[in-house]
Amino acid sequence: MKTLLRTWLPALLLCGITSFSAADQAGKQKAAVHLDVYKTPTCGCCTKWMDHLAEYGFSSTGHHPDEIGALKRKLGVPARYGSCHTGVSQEGYVFEGHVPARYITQFLASPPADALGLTVPAMPVGSPGMEYKDQFMPYEVLLLKKDGSVEVYAAVESYQQQFD
Ligand code: CU
Ligand code: CU
Repeated sequence: MKTLLRTWLPALLLCGITSFSAADQAGKQKAAVHLDVYKTPTCGCCTKWMDHLAEYGFSSTGHHPDEIGALKRKLGVPARYGSCHTGVSQEGYVFEGHVPARYITQFLASPPADALGLTVPAMPVGSPGMEYKDQFMPYEVLLLKKDGSVEVYAAVESYQQQFD
């Protein structure tokens, strides 16, 4: 009996510690996503997008700068790829417009070397925070690069794809 305990106890402990720290780490990663969101006070869809982020465990703080256009330029968001609000992560990545949380998580897990962030230009109906009845307009999440160019990061074909 003593021998059995000596053999198994360390293994059990080790296993327990490992699974505990993995869960702890996952929790921390989730809680660590914080965005500063620059928006205009009258825009309701921005707040609804922040609610969507909260559902995915993100925290966010809203800011209302006097010159949001100037701020977007300073951050390097080309006007033609702009939207209503601009989220900035703690690492300085930019998330422009109604980007679904799942793509922000995906991006932050492995940001491409030359990336500035992601954008969903304009405000597609049915994107997170832009819900209107049961309408959905397919759209693309674009990868914004530091040189001002973009490439398609994700083609969102269905409402459900935003939340899978
Ligand atoms: Cu909007
Ligand atoms: Cu907005």
